Amino acid sequence: MKQRKGIILAGGSGTRLYPMTNVVSKQLLPVFDKPMIYYPLSTLMLAGIREILIISTPEDLPRFENLLDTGAQWGVEIQYAVQPSPDGIAQALIIGAEFLSGAPCALILGDNIFHGSGFGVKLQEISVDSTRDLTLFACQVHDPERYGVAEISRDGRLLGIEEKPSQPKSSYAVTGLYFYDEQAPKLANELTPSARGELEITALNNMYLSRSSVHVERLDRGHVWFDTGTPESLSEAAQYVQAIEHRQGVKIHCPEEISLHKGWIQPEEVIEQAKLFKNSVYGRYLVKVVEDFRRDVD
Ligand code: G1P
Repeated sequence: MKQRKGIILAGGSGTRLYPMTNVVSKQLLPVFDKPMIYYPLSTLMLAGIREILIISTPEDLPRFENLLDTGAQWGVEIQYAVQPSPDGIAQALIIGAEFLSGAPCALILGDNIFHGSGFGVKLQEISVDSTRDLTLFACQVHDPERYGVAEISRDGRLLGIEEKPSQPKSSYAVTGLYFYDEQAPKLANELTPSARGELEITALNNMYLSRSSVHVERLDRGHVWFDTGTPESLSEAAQYVQAIEHRQGVKIHCPEEISLHKGWIQPEEVIEQAKLFKNSVYGRYLVKVVEDFRRDVD
């Protein structure tokens, strides 16, 4: 199996967040102390993925490039591609076909935040597993009708997914993180637009299900998942990050810290990054990360 690559889809017009997103892309808004896109980026890094494609609108893509650059500062390689119009999540796999060049991938939505004990280890295992065609993550929510909803049998098999059903068959939402085998761009090309004119990710996932078994990992107690598409969920996610970070004194999804601990960058490089952040709390945190790291390896 080729090395798995990552795709972050940070498109859309964020209409549910107007006027916050009138002139700024949703995925550049802050979630407490860092831009939203840091979270999905960190999730891919935790999975051990180092080649990442960011897809966004023609207007917003240069802003993501300004913010994230080549990724070398985090020991990863970031490339960029445009989605000319919001024609569906599955289109990201078609746009990303050249970048993937036959590699399996993890696709993550730019507004999805995952956190939980042992989640990084689980992601790493899934990332190197070549026996699975598709792995999805499902999470219990109180408002499943807002999402793709998974019907799961008693023994944990996925039976089907319905996109935003008015009568959900379960309370398990399918989250915006998908681990596909190398067939994904080819199968996405076979999709036809839905009634709302989009290439639906749920249609692609059901196509996989009709051909082979699909693994669904349930994110139960001890894991959180936020889709930050509404003012309430954006605020909830920020409050969650603030509460954990304040209580524990450690940051959630800090790319410099993840990269340092993976051995992808050296302590001196983190210090260089810290200097760029001047006297911000984030900058001071990076200095502390390096001090702790040096103490642990001594
Ligand atoms: C999309 C998907 C949906 C999924 C959700 C997760 O919905 O279509 O299946 O559950 O992301 O965030 P959207 O946010 O585009 O409405």
